[in-house]
Amino acid sequence: AACVVTRPREPTPLDVPVFYVLGGPGSGKGTQCAKLVAHYSCAHFSAGDLLRAEIATGSEMGKTISEMIKSGKIVQAETTIDLLRKAMFEAKAGGAKGPFLIDGFPRSMDNLQAYEAQAPKCKAVLFFEASEEAMTERLLERGKTSGRTDDNADTIKRRFATFQNQSLPVVEHLEADQKCVHRIDALQPIDDVFAATCKILLMASKRAASAASDMALTTRALLRAAAHARTAEKDAITLMLATAREAAWRRQTNEQAAMAAKAAARLRQVHGEEVAVLTEIRDVREPSDCS
Ligand code: ADP
Ligand code: C5P
Ligand code: MG
Repeated sequence: AACVVTRPREPTPLDVPVFYVLGGPGSGKGTQCAKLVAHYSCAHFSAGDLLRAEIATGSEMGKTISEMIKSGKIVQAETTIDLLRKAMFEAKAGGAKGPFLIDGFPRSMDNLQAYEAQAPKCKAVLFFEASEEAMTERLLERGKTSGRTDDNADTIKRRFATFQNQSLPVVEHLEADQKCVHRIDALQPIDDVFAATCKILLMASKRAASAASDMALTTRALLRAAAHARTAEKDAITLMLATAREAAWRRQTNEQAAMAAKAAARLRQVHGEEVAVLTEIRDVREPSDCS
């Protein structure tokens, strides 16, 4: 029998999965996003950077934003969302590949509700946790060269208060509601935080790959994630197997399955017992029956 399988795509205007990257000021959001962009197919959008870019244009809006940033307050949602959406649509038009990492947004329930009123929910949240003590130390150090008007002791205190009162409730809400929050210990050295982040992305992608017709990360990216999160190599193999099955099922076999087979072969060198995975991938490349 003919085998035609169609699955509805999510009605996303951007058609790109979005991850929120949250955490207190100085927790390392920007640092980790930069590493993710350097290693994977994804793009980084920092709400704070976009707001500072608006200030730099000298616009009236920029003057208001500047006052808010200096006092550690949250800019009204519409302004930040306009900037974010503009940047994301431009990136998409320029060929940027998802997932899109939105760093430092949503920072209040108002941010979240205004965003979700016009865009699909996020796929996952990366939440970097660090003590105020550590974050203060990092921000004061960063302040020596950042030129930022908010990297000073007085504004840092205000930013912590804003974080506690307005930003943490967003994390708690997403945790209770969508159950998609991944807490990451951001007190560790940068590379260790990155390894933990990669491992989480690997897991999140595994779910996305089985749940959605558009996979959050490609097999290639997943393999790189596995390389960074050494302990998750076996998970990667399982995931690649699932990816190959999914690809075969959707009749997009060759490129993805071949990539998965190559990836599995490489990982097999580390875990000799995984030979069976390769065979299994070959087996699913040409599904004879999917009724
Ligand atoms: P955020 O974007 O969350 O405010 P950044 O990524 O800008 O934080 O990091 C703040 C400062 O702390 C930067 O100077 C950065 O180099 C440093 N930093 C980031 N992550 C770590 C870490 N895990 N350990 C030590 N310093 C870090
Ligand atoms: O994330 P970052 O530390 O760059 O943000 C700097 C400042 O930008 C915040 O303290 C806040 O004043 C403003 N901001 C905001 N709304 C966001 C993100 C940042 O008002 N969603
Ligand atoms: Mg930042």
